[in-house]
Amino acid sequence: MQLLDGKIVSQAVKNELREKTDQLKADNKRLPHLAAILIGNDGASETYVASKIKNCEEAGFKSSMYRFNTDTNEDTIIAKIEELNNDDEVDGILVQLPLPKHISEEKIINIIDPLKDVDGFHPISVGKLVQGLPTFIPATPYGVMLMLEHYKIETAGKFAVVIGRSNIVGRPMSILLSQNTNPGNCTVTLCHSRTTNLKEICLQADIIVAALGKVSFLTADMVKENAVVIDVGITRVEDATKKSGFKIKGDVDFENVAPKCSYITPVPGGVGLMTIAALLKNTYHAYIQKNNS
Ligand SMILES: NC(=O)c1ccc[n+]([C@@H]2O[C@H](COP(=O)([O-])OP(=O)(O)OC[C@H]3O[C@@H](n4cnc5c(N)ncnc54)[C@H](OP(=O)(O)O)[C@@H]3O)[C@@H](O)[C@H]2O)c1
Repeated sequence: MQLLDGKIVSQAVKNELREKTDQLKADNKRLPHLAAILIGNDGASETYVASKIKNCEEAGFKSSMYRFNTDTNEDTIIAKIEELNNDDEVDGILVQLPLPKHISEEKIINIIDPLKDVDGFHPISVGKLVQGLPTFIPATPYGVMLMLEHYKIETAGKFAVVIGRSNIVGRPMSILLSQNTNPGNCTVTLCHSRTTNLKEICLQADIIVAALGKVSFLTADMVKENAVVIDVGITRVEDATKKSGFKIKGDVDFENVAPKCSYITPVPGGVGLMTIAALLKNTYHAYIQKNNS
Protein backbone atom coordinates (compact mmCIF):
# COMPACT_ATOMS: atom_id res chain seq x y z
CA MET A 1 0.00 0.00 0.00
CA GLN A 2 1.26 3.46 -0.90
CA LEU A 3 -0.04 6.66 0.64
CA LEU A 4 -1.18 9.39 -1.74
CA ASP A 5 0.42 12.23 0.17
CA GLY A 6 -1.39 15.54 -0.20
CA LYS A 7 1.46 17.35 1.54
CA ILE A 8 4.00 16.33 -1.09
CA VAL A 9 1.78 16.93 -4.11
CA SER A 10 0.33 20.24 -2.91
CA GLN A 11 3.83 21.48 -2.06
CA ALA A 12 4.98 20.59 -5.58
CA VAL A 13 2.07 22.61 -7.03
CA LYS A 14 2.85 25.57 -4.77
CA ASN A 15 6.56 25.46 -5.62
CA GLU A 16 5.73 25.50 -9.34
CA LEU A 17 3.43 28.50 -8.85
CA ARG A 18 6.00 30.24 -6.64
CA GLU A 19 8.56 30.03 -9.42
CA LYS A 20 6.11 31.74 -11.77
CA THR A 21 5.23 34.51 -9.30
CA ASP A 22 8.92 35.08 -8.46
CA GLN A 23 9.47 35.66 -12.18
CA LEU A 24 6.50 38.03 -12.35
CA LYS A 25 7.94 39.98 -9.41
CA ALA A 26 11.37 40.11 -11.05
CA ASP A 27 9.68 41.50 -14.19
CA ASN A 28 7.78 44.09 -12.11
CA LYS A 29 4.46 42.57 -13.17
CA ARG A 30 1.19 42.46 -11.25
CA LEU A 31 0.72 39.27 -9.18
CA PRO A 32 -2.27 36.88 -9.29
CA HIS A 33 -4.91 38.05 -6.81
CA LEU A 34 -7.56 35.94 -5.05
CA ALA A 35 -10.42 37.69 -3.23
CA ALA A 36 -12.25 35.61 -0.59
CA ILE A 37 -15.61 36.42 0.96
CA LEU A 38 -16.54 34.87 4.30
CA ILE A 39 -19.99 35.35 5.78
CA GLY A 40 -20.65 34.43 9.42
CA ASN A 41 -18.38 32.71 11.91
CA ASP A 42 -18.62 28.98 11.21
CA GLY A 43 -15.44 27.47 12.68
CA ALA A 44 -14.69 25.14 9.76
CA SER A 45 -15.27 27.88 7.16
CA GLU A 46 -12.97 30.25 9.07
CA THR A 47 -10.25 27.59 9.10
CA TYR A 48 -10.65 26.88 5.37
CA VAL A 49 -10.50 30.54 4.35
CA ALA A 50 -7.52 31.24 6.64
CA SER A 51 -5.72 28.30 5.08
CA LYS A 52 -6.52 29.46 1.53
CA ILE A 53 -5.13 32.92 2.33
CA LYS A 54 -1.98 31.45 3.91
CA ASN A 55 -1.42 29.21 0.87
CA CYS A 56 -1.85 32.21 -1.45
CA GLU A 57 1.03 33.86 0.39
CA GLU A 58 3.17 30.73 0.05
CA ALA A 59 2.57 30.70 -3.71
CA GLY A 60 3.44 34.41 -3.94
CA PHE A 61 -0.16 35.49 -4.75
CA LYS A 62 -1.90 38.56 -3.49
CA SER A 63 -5.06 37.85 -1.46
CA SER A 64 -7.88 39.87 0.05
CA MET A 65 -10.41 38.70 2.58
CA TYR A 66 -13.82 40.33 3.06
CA ARG A 67 -15.71 39.35 6.21
CA PHE A 68 -19.41 39.88 6.79
CA ASN A 69 -21.63 39.18 9.82
CA THR A 70 -24.06 36.27 9.62
CA ASP A 71 -27.05 38.63 9.36
CA THR A 72 -25.63 40.63 6.41
CA ASN A 73 -28.29 40.91 3.72
CA GLU A 74 -27.98 39.33 0.29
CA ASP A 75 -27.83 42.67 -1.54
CA THR A 76 -24.71 43.70 0.38
CA ILE A 77 -22.92 40.50 -0.66
CA ILE A 78 -24.06 40.88 -4.26
CA ALA A 79 -22.79 44.49 -4.30
CA LYS A 80 -19.38 43.32 -3.02
CA ILE A 81 -19.18 40.58 -5.69
CA GLU A 82 -20.09 43.10 -8.41
CA GLU A 83 -17.37 45.42 -7.14
CA LEU A 84 -14.83 42.56 -7.28
CA ASN A 85 -16.11 41.52 -10.74
CA ASN A 86 -15.28 45.04 -11.96
CA ASP A 87 -11.92 45.27 -10.21
CA ASP A 88 -9.17 44.73 -12.79
CA GLU A 89 -6.71 43.87 -10.03
CA VAL A 90 -8.75 40.84 -8.90
CA ASP A 91 -8.33 37.56 -10.80
CA GLY A 92 -10.34 35.08 -8.73
CA ILE A 93 -13.38 35.40 -6.46
CA LEU A 94 -14.20 32.82 -3.85
CA VAL A 95 -17.32 32.85 -1.68
CA GLN A 96 -16.88 30.35 1.13
CA LEU A 97 -19.81 27.93 1.40
CA PRO A 98 -22.10 27.13 3.14
CA LEU A 99 -23.91 30.47 3.27
CA PRO A 100 -26.35 31.58 5.98
CA LYS A 101 -29.90 30.35 5.16
CA HIS A 102 -31.26 33.76 4.11
CA ILE A 103 -28.69 34.07 1.31
CA SER A 104 -29.33 32.15 -1.91
CA GLU A 105 -26.31 30.05 -2.89
CA GLU A 106 -27.56 29.87 -6.46
CA LYS A 107 -27.90 33.66 -6.76
CA ILE A 108 -24.45 34.27 -5.29
CA ILE A 109 -22.73 31.70 -7.50
CA ASN A 110 -24.48 33.04 -10.61
CA ILE A 111 -23.42 36.64 -9.97
CA ILE A 112 -19.67 35.84 -9.99
CA ASP A 113 -18.00 36.74 -13.29
CA PRO A 114 -17.38 33.33 -14.98
CA LEU A 115 -13.87 34.57 -15.86
CA LYS A 116 -13.16 34.92 -12.11
CA ASP A 117 -15.08 31.78 -11.03
CA VAL A 118 -12.06 29.99 -9.55
CA ASP A 119 -14.30 27.63 -7.55
CA GLY A 120 -15.78 26.41 -10.83
CA PHE A 121 -19.37 26.42 -9.51
CA HIS A 122 -20.89 28.87 -12.04
CA PRO A 123 -23.26 27.17 -14.55
CA ILE A 124 -21.01 28.35 -17.41
CA SER A 125 -17.99 26.63 -15.83
CA VAL A 126 -20.04 23.48 -15.16
CA GLY A 127 -21.38 23.45 -18.74
CA LYS A 128 -17.87 23.71 -20.15
CA LEU A 129 -16.65 20.97 -17.81
CA VAL A 130 -19.40 18.62 -19.02
CA GLN A 131 -18.45 19.36 -22.64
CA GLY A 132 -14.75 18.75 -21.92
CA LEU A 133 -13.83 22.36 -22.73
CA PRO A 134 -11.09 24.24 -20.84
CA THR A 135 -12.61 25.84 -17.74
CA PHE A 136 -12.27 26.27 -13.99
CA ILE A 137 -12.68 22.81 -12.46
CA PRO A 138 -14.16 22.63 -8.94
CA ALA A 139 -11.14 22.55 -6.65
CA THR A 140 -11.71 19.27 -4.80
CA PRO A 141 -12.19 16.99 -7.84
CA TYR A 142 -9.45 18.93 -9.66
CA GLY A 143 -7.16 18.28 -6.68
CA VAL A 144 -7.94 14.54 -6.85
CA MET A 145 -7.08 14.52 -10.57
CA LEU A 146 -3.78 16.30 -9.87
CA MET A 147 -2.98 13.68 -7.26
CA LEU A 148 -3.76 10.76 -9.63
CA GLU A 149 -1.57 12.45 -12.24
CA HIS A 150 1.31 13.05 -9.83
CA TYR A 151 1.42 9.40 -8.76
CA LYS A 152 0.94 8.25 -12.39
CA ILE A 153 -1.98 6.04 -11.38
CA GLU A 154 -3.37 4.18 -14.37
CA THR A 155 -7.05 5.07 -14.74
CA ALA A 156 -7.83 4.20 -18.38
CA GLY A 157 -10.33 1.37 -18.63
CA LYS A 158 -10.67 1.12 -14.85
CA PHE A 159 -13.99 0.88 -13.06
CA ALA A 160 -14.40 3.92 -10.77
CA VAL A 161 -17.10 4.36 -8.16
CA VAL A 162 -17.86 7.81 -6.76
CA ILE A 163 -19.97 7.91 -3.59
CA GLY A 164 -21.80 11.25 -3.31
CA ARG A 165 -23.36 13.36 -6.07
CA SER A 166 -22.95 16.93 -4.79
CA ASN A 167 -22.32 19.74 -7.27
CA ILE A 168 -19.01 20.59 -5.61
CA VAL A 169 -17.45 17.13 -5.29
CA GLY A 170 -19.16 13.92 -6.41
CA ARG A 171 -20.83 14.94 -9.67
CA PRO A 172 -17.85 16.83 -11.18
CA MET A 173 -15.56 14.03 -9.95
CA SER A 174 -17.61 11.47 -11.88
CA ILE A 175 -17.50 13.66 -15.02
CA LEU A 176 -13.71 14.14 -14.81
CA LEU A 177 -13.00 10.45 -14.33
CA SER A 178 -15.20 9.57 -17.31
CA GLN A 179 -13.61 12.09 -19.68
CA ASN A 180 -11.35 11.10 -22.55
CA THR A 181 -8.25 12.42 -20.76
CA ASN A 182 -5.37 11.15 -18.68
CA PRO A 183 -6.19 10.74 -15.82
CA GLY A 184 -9.68 9.77 -16.94
CA ASN A 185 -11.14 7.21 -19.35
CA CYS A 186 -12.72 5.34 -16.46
CA THR A 187 -16.07 3.60 -16.55
CA VAL A 188 -17.85 5.45 -13.77
CA THR A 189 -20.75 4.68 -11.47
CA LEU A 190 -22.03 7.57 -9.36
CA CYS A 191 -23.67 6.42 -6.12
CA HIS A 192 -25.82 8.31 -3.60
CA SER A 193 -28.11 7.77 -0.64
CA ARG A 194 -30.73 5.97 -2.79
CA THR A 195 -28.24 3.48 -4.24
CA THR A 196 -29.47 0.06 -3.13
CA ASN A 197 -26.52 -2.26 -3.69
CA LEU A 198 -23.61 0.00 -2.78
CA LYS A 199 -21.45 -2.71 -1.23
CA GLU A 200 -21.67 -4.94 -4.34
CA ILE A 201 -20.87 -1.98 -6.61
CA CYS A 202 -17.89 -0.90 -4.49
CA LEU A 203 -16.52 -4.45 -4.39
CA GLN A 204 -16.09 -4.31 -8.17
CA ALA A 205 -14.33 -0.95 -8.15
CA ASP A 206 -10.69 -0.40 -9.13
CA ILE A 207 -10.98 3.17 -7.87
CA ILE A 208 -13.33 4.44 -5.13
CA VAL A 209 -13.84 8.11 -4.33
CA ALA A 210 -15.74 8.48 -1.05
CA ALA A 211 -17.37 11.91 -0.78
CA LEU A 212 -20.43 11.60 1.40
CA GLY A 213 -19.51 13.09 4.77
CA LYS A 214 -20.08 10.02 6.93
CA VAL A 215 -17.20 9.04 9.22
CA SER A 216 -15.56 5.67 8.42
CA PHE A 217 -18.46 4.75 6.08
CA LEU A 218 -16.33 2.81 3.59
CA THR A 219 -15.27 -0.37 5.39
CA ALA A 220 -12.81 -3.11 4.40
CA ASP A 221 -15.59 -5.52 3.36
CA MET A 222 -16.64 -3.00 0.64
CA VAL A 223 -13.20 -2.78 -0.99
CA LYS A 224 -11.48 -5.27 -3.29
CA GLU A 225 -7.78 -6.09 -3.03
CA ASN A 226 -5.47 -3.51 -4.67
CA ALA A 227 -8.15 -0.87 -5.11
CA VAL A 228 -7.24 2.84 -5.16
CA VAL A 229 -9.19 4.64 -2.45
CA ILE A 230 -9.61 8.41 -2.35
CA ASP A 231 -11.15 9.81 0.84
CA VAL A 232 -12.71 13.24 0.35
CA GLY A 233 -14.64 13.29 3.64
CA ILE A 234 -13.87 15.86 6.30
CA THR A 235 -15.87 15.60 9.51
CA ARG A 236 -14.99 17.17 12.85
CA VAL A 237 -15.28 14.61 15.65
CA GLU A 238 -15.07 15.62 19.31
CA ASP A 239 -11.73 14.76 20.89
CA ALA A 240 -10.97 16.07 24.37
CA THR A 241 -7.29 15.17 23.99
CA LYS A 242 -6.88 17.78 21.23
CA LYS A 243 -6.32 21.45 21.97
CA SER A 244 -9.00 22.35 19.43
CA GLY A 245 -11.43 19.88 21.07
CA PHE A 246 -11.90 17.91 17.84
CA LYS A 247 -10.12 15.75 15.30
CA ILE A 248 -10.72 15.43 11.56
CA LYS A 249 -12.07 12.11 10.27
CA GLY A 250 -12.64 10.92 6.71
CA ASP A 251 -15.30 8.76 5.06
CA VAL A 252 -13.01 5.73 4.96
CA ASP A 253 -12.22 3.31 7.80
CA PHE A 254 -8.55 3.94 7.04
CA GLU A 255 -7.02 1.49 9.51
CA ASN A 256 -8.82 -1.53 8.06
CA VAL A 257 -9.15 -0.44 4.43
CA ALA A 258 -5.53 0.69 3.88
CA PRO A 259 -3.95 -2.81 4.02
CA LYS A 260 -6.15 -3.91 1.08
CA CYS A 261 -5.33 -0.91 -1.14
CA SER A 262 -2.68 -0.27 -3.76
CA TYR A 263 -2.99 3.47 -3.00
CA ILE A 264 -5.00 5.40 -0.41
CA THR A 265 -5.27 9.02 0.74
CA PRO A 266 -4.96 9.81 4.44
CA VAL A 267 -7.28 12.22 6.30
CA PRO A 268 -5.99 14.72 7.19
CA GLY A 269 -3.06 15.19 4.81
CA GLY A 270 -4.76 14.03 1.62
CA VAL A 271 -7.45 15.58 -0.57
CA GLY A 272 -7.98 18.63 1.68
CA LEU A 273 -4.51 19.98 0.89
CA MET A 274 -5.00 19.23 -2.81
CA THR A 275 -8.23 21.24 -2.85
CA ILE A 276 -6.29 24.37 -1.89
CA ALA A 277 -3.52 23.63 -4.40
CA ALA A 278 -6.15 23.27 -7.14
CA LEU A 279 -7.76 26.56 -6.14
CA LEU A 280 -4.37 28.26 -6.52
CA LYS A 281 -3.93 26.70 -9.96
CA ASN A 282 -7.37 27.97 -10.99
CA THR A 283 -6.46 31.46 -9.76
CA TYR A 284 -3.25 31.40 -11.75
CA HIS A 285 -5.19 30.29 -14.87
CA ALA A 286 -7.62 33.18 -14.32
CA TYR A 287 -4.67 35.58 -14.12
CA ILE A 288 -3.08 34.23 -17.33
CA GLN A 289 -6.42 34.25 -19.18
CA LYS A 290 -6.97 37.90 -18.19
CA ASN A 291 -3.51 38.98 -19.24
CA ASN A 292 -3.90 37.24 -22.60
CA SER A 293 -7.33 38.67 -23.37
N1 LIG B 1 -11.33 17.47 1.18
C1 LIG B 1 -11.89 18.63 0.81
O1 LIG B 1 -11.24 19.59 0.46
C2 LIG B 1 -13.38 18.70 0.80
C3 LIG B 1 -14.06 19.63 0.01
C4 LIG B 1 -15.44 19.60 0.00
C5 LIG B 1 -16.13 18.70 0.79
N2 LIG B 1 -15.43 17.86 1.59
C6 LIG B 1 -16.07 16.86 2.44
O2 LIG B 1 -16.59 15.84 1.60
C7 LIG B 1 -17.77 15.28 2.16
C8 LIG B 1 -18.88 15.44 1.15
O3 LIG B 1 -19.10 16.81 0.90
P1 LIG B 1 -20.29 17.33 -0.04
O4 LIG B 1 -20.31 18.79 0.05
O5 LIG B 1 -20.17 16.66 -1.36
O6 LIG B 1 -21.55 16.72 0.77
P2 LIG B 1 -23.09 16.77 0.50
O7 LIG B 1 -23.47 17.94 -0.37
O8 LIG B 1 -23.74 16.61 1.83
O9 LIG B 1 -23.36 15.46 -0.37
C9 LIG B 1 -23.22 14.20 0.19
C10 LIG B 1 -23.56 13.17 -0.84
O10 LIG B 1 -23.39 11.89 -0.25
C11 LIG B 1 -24.54 11.10 -0.50
N3 LIG B 1 -24.78 10.20 0.63
C12 LIG B 1 -25.14 10.53 1.88
N4 LIG B 1 -25.30 9.42 2.62
C13 LIG B 1 -25.05 8.38 1.80
C14 LIG B 1 -25.07 6.97 1.98
N5 LIG B 1 -25.36 6.41 3.14
N6 LIG B 1 -24.73 6.20 0.92
C15 LIG B 1 -24.42 6.75 -0.27
N7 LIG B 1 -24.39 8.07 -0.49
C16 LIG B 1 -24.71 8.88 0.53
C17 LIG B 1 -25.67 12.08 -0.65
O11 LIG B 1 -26.71 11.48 -1.40
P3 LIG B 1 -28.08 12.25 -1.81
O12 LIG B 1 -27.69 13.14 -2.95
O13 LIG B 1 -28.97 11.16 -2.19
O14 LIG B 1 -28.51 13.01 -0.60
C18 LIG B 1 -24.99 13.23 -1.36
O15 LIG B 1 -25.01 13.05 -2.76
C19 LIG B 1 -17.98 16.06 3.46
O16 LIG B 1 -17.37 15.36 4.51
C20 LIG B 1 -17.25 17.37 3.23
O17 LIG B 1 -16.82 17.98 4.44
C21 LIG B 1 -14.08 17.84 1.61
